[in-house]
Amino acid sequence: MNQEEVRKKIKELTEQINQHNYYYYVISNPVISDYDFDMLLQELIRLEQANPELILPESPTQRVGGEINKKFKQEKHISPMLSLGNTYSEEEVQDFDTRVKKTIGQDVEYVCELKFDGVAIVLRYINGLLEKAITRGDGFRGDDVTTNVKTIRSIPLKLYGDYPASLEARGEIFMPREGFEKLNKEREKTGDTPFANPRNATSGSLKMLDSSSVAKRPLDCFLYTILGSDLPYGNHYDTMKKAKQWGLKISNFIAKCNTINEVFDFIGYWDKERNQLPFDIDGVVIKVNSFAHQELLGHTAKSPRWAIAYKFKAERVETELLSIDYQVGRTGSITPVANLNPILLAGTMVKRASLHNADILKKLDVRIGDNVFVEKGGEIIPKIVSVNMQKRQESSSPVHFITHCPECHTLLTRKEGEANHYCPNEMDCPPQIKGKLEHFISRKAMNIESLGEGKIEMLFDNDLVHDVADFYDMTYDKLYGLEKIFDGSNEKKDKKISFKEKTVTNILTGIEASKEVPFARVLYALGIRHVGETVARKLAYHYKNIDNLMKADLYELILVDEIGEKIAESIISFFGLEKNRIIIERLKESDVKMKAGKEDIVPISDRLLNKAIVISGGFPGYSRNELKKLIEQHGGRNVGSVSSKIDFILAGENMGPTKLKRAKELGIKTINIDEFSDLIKD
Ligand code: IVH
Repeated sequence: MNQEEVRKKIKELTEQINQHNYYYYVISNPVISDYDFDMLLQELIRLEQANPELILPESPTQRVGGEINKKFKQEKHISPMLSLGNTYSEEEVQDFDTRVKKTIGQDVEYVCELKFDGVAIVLRYINGLLEKAITRGDGFRGDDVTTNVKTIRSIPLKLYGDYPASLEARGEIFMPREGFEKLNKEREKTGDTPFANPRNATSGSLKMLDSSSVAKRPLDCFLYTILGSDLPYGNHYDTMKKAKQWGLKISNFIAKCNTINEVFDFIGYWDKERNQLPFDIDGVVIKVNSFAHQELLGHTAKSPRWAIAYKFKAERVETELLSIDYQVGRTGSITPVANLNPILLAGTMVKRASLHNADILKKLDVRIGDNVFVEKGGEIIPKIVSVNMQKRQESSSPVHFITHCPECHTLLTRKEGEANHYCPNEMDCPPQIKGKLEHFISRKAMNIESLGEGKIEMLFDNDLVHDVADFYDMTYDKLYGLEKIFDGSNEKKDKKISFKEKTVTNILTGIEASKEVPFARVLYALGIRHVGETVARKLAYHYKNIDNLMKADLYELILVDEIGEKIAESIISFFGLEKNRIIIERLKESDVKMKAGKEDIVPISDRLLNKAIVISGGFPGYSRNELKKLIEQHGGRNVGSVSSKIDFILAGENMGPTKLKRAKELGIKTINIDEFSDLIKD
């Protein structure tokens, strides 16, 4: 292919993939298989890598993320982001209708929409390209979160069709429930505090400084307002339908209503059916359809007079508190859990509710035998909101939080300022041991799939593993013939499984293969509290090997990007335990990677993404290796010789004359160290 053909092919693939993204993420109606999609994407990546100058701004590869934002830049909103007047009562909706009709007359058309429970966002499109994404902030200025928002697949990087030259789409970024639950499960595994609800998870995700971490969060976005001076229709409803044709994700659940009773029908329907949606809504928004009418009605300092939000009341039921269990997590945190007389709430049978911690337990003053009110609000897990005191039995007595671990009977501890009690017996408390082992083999850690599905439990019950280093002492003879009889009530009931040749070989092969897992993932696999994947990558990159990390003191650790006091303290206390140091030694002896390799390099930004750079001459104060590292950290590549394929030369003192001549012939730019520093600085 010549250059022109490559350009055409890249354009064609970009358009094709974006179209498929639209089918998949925006209208949830994919037309090709995942495999075929991946093939297209791979071809595009290959062509782009060979021809980085031909990458289009709307290319799907530009979503991936990798840019680290030191801090978000502030951006002024074109028009202030107002909020909506809220109501919980139908009467007030009726009053709203009366007010509107006073100004407009009787002939008013409304549009009803879902009120998405997420984080408001502004998307600016110029000539169809996504230029900026800004959070609400204080309504006048928000954070520029463009790099993070670009990772959300349902947000088009380029619009289709007859879009106006400039438009602003406002909407809500949210996290669908399924993705939220998965994310929280992972956080529990890493010892990170789970998010209380999808909205918090969304806002936490958008605030992350590393867009490659945002890319992993299952975020989605509905747009609900289109602004611009050149819109094709004079009303909201038609504009939204048109915006859908431009590729913007607009909810299908939007209705035109000619009477306030139709509005109430919409509200009533979604109050009942909202649990069927895969995401959270907290109400319905009612808007006057005509833009001319909207203008006539105007707005107060805070909110438009042409719209109102009807908020749903949280569903609440009453049931009996039967008992309280205390669960021990992988990191030893103790969670009190209420066992309830089963009751139907928001479409699901609720049997248990988290009581979170000792403070909440005390504040609620729940007692065994109490009748409690259980609510499902924004939070996914039902919560006990209060006790029906009228039904309290005189004989009841306050609950005292346990003092000892329910599993290993060790005295519990509670750090000042922390809400949770912990079982400090990290090494010998069974759920903590099993949790650590399970985390170690999990996909994002050492990825020893052959040890999944209850096998860890078998090894543990048979005294074969106590800590993660024991995996590497496993032999054929130790494993062959191990048996477990399932006597539970699940589908494996009365089933006996025993390790035969194939299972044992698979396990041993999986363990052997895990020795190739990069150092950053090994660090993550160790299960140090608060050390998730990203932090582990930063540590691996910064310290290069486990010995350096083990030697680091608190002060030094805090200086590392993204490592705060909490994480630093946790690392120090982990390596402070002799048992952990012995495990590390044993892992080292088993050839598990304890040194950073090439794969552990973490990009700091993509300012030099795909740039091929030659270094030539001397640079007082910088070694060649340092410069090379800087180039790599910002996504570039250091190459040895000058050719037409390179992007520029970093020229120092006394640059070689042959190189200089060749560069001039080829018209390649040379830049000095100051210009280079400017290029990579924020
Ligand atoms: S219209 C003038 N429509 O609700 C504000 N807002 O205070 C016009 N929201 O955080 C907003 N779903 O982000 C509108 N269908 C919808 C919405 C919606 C959710 C959010 C909005 C803001 C809050 C309103």
